[in-house]
Parts: sequence; structure tokens; C-alpha cells
Amino acid sequence: MINKVAVLLVVLLFIIAALASDPDPVMGFCIAKSPDNSFSCKNSSTATVEDFTYSGIKSPGNFKQTGFSSMAVNSNVFPGLNTLGVSFVRADFGVGGVNVPHFHPRATEVAFVLEGKIYSGFVDTNNKVFAKVLEKGEVMVFPRGLVHFQMNVGDRPATILGSFDSQNPGLMRS
Ligand SMILES: *[C@@H]1O[C@H](CO)[C@@H](O)[C@H](O)[C@H]1NC(C)=O
Repeated sequence: MINKVAVLLVVLLFIIAALASDPDPVMGFCIAKSPDNSFSCKNSSTATVEDFTYSGIKSPGNFKQTGFSSMAVNSNVFPGLNTLGVSFVRADFGVGGVNVPHFHPRATEVAFVLEGKIYSGFVDTNNKVFAKVLEKGEVMVFPRGLVHFQMNVGDRPATILGSFDSQNPGLMRS
């Protein structure tokens, strides 16, 4: 009995988490105080342009065994995003590189192919797959909470930029 209640609670929490999204901002900006990144704001009189810029994704990150590298630019690494409801990710693929199936519980993602050819898709709640090869300059949207994947099917390295409607979209492997 207790086990069943616990399972139900976990499922409910999961559903609530999956439906969560960022609240609207109540002020112009609120640069999170480093390093705690809580909702306490840095004194806005001391803000500079450096609080609103980020230089950490000029080049790819470390590649995993799947030939894939991703660098999330969320409010944890870029405190200026705090309360603004947006973030993004740079992802790089070696030839044949794969971004394995995963989902973001708190955000829809719009992915733009900067370079290369990416087989890209998601699965809806009826297990229907929506997938195609995207060329450089093309965009695909992955609805919030739905499992998606990407693979470099070109003969050169590929790069995408993903944008999220959450300052901290979360990442769950399916
Ligand atoms: C914020 O910074 C300004 C300028 O340095 C200072 O005058 C003000 O007292 C500070 N406010 C708070 C709440 O610390």
C-alpha cells in the first residue's frame, strides 16, 4: 500500500515537473548572485554589460564516446539569464556523432543547424516519430517534455544551436 502511494506520488511529481515552466519576470532583470544562483539578485546598480554576455561557447566542449559534445548556457553558468525564461545550448557532432534520446522537462527547444547535416527527430506521447534530415540553416522544434534525438549524417563535423524557453530546461535521459 505504502509502496503504491509512493509510486503514485513520484508519478504525480513527475507530471507536475513535466508541465512546469518559467514564471514571468517581475522586474527588468535579476542577475543571480554567484555562486549560489538562487533567486537573490545582485544589486542592479552594480550591473555591467559583462553580466549580460557569455563567452564560454566559442569552441566545442569535450566529446563523449558518442561523438557528441554539448555546452548548456543556462542560468547556472550565465547568471544574467536568471528570471528571463530563456537559455540555449551549443552542440557539436563528429561524423556519425549522436545526441542520444533525452528530453527537457521544463522547456521547448528550437534547434538551428549552424553547420552540417543532422537527422533530427522527436517522439510524441502516442509513440509517433517525427524525424527528417536538416540541412545547414534549417530549424526544428522539440515540444516541451518530448523525447528527441539528433545524429550527424553528413561527411563533416556539424554544429547546432538550441534555444529554450526556460532559464534552466533540465535534461533527462529516457
Ligand atoms: C546598490 O549599489 C549602489 C551603488 O553602488 C549603492 O548606492 C546602494 O546602496 C546599493 N544598494 C543596496 C541595497 O545594497
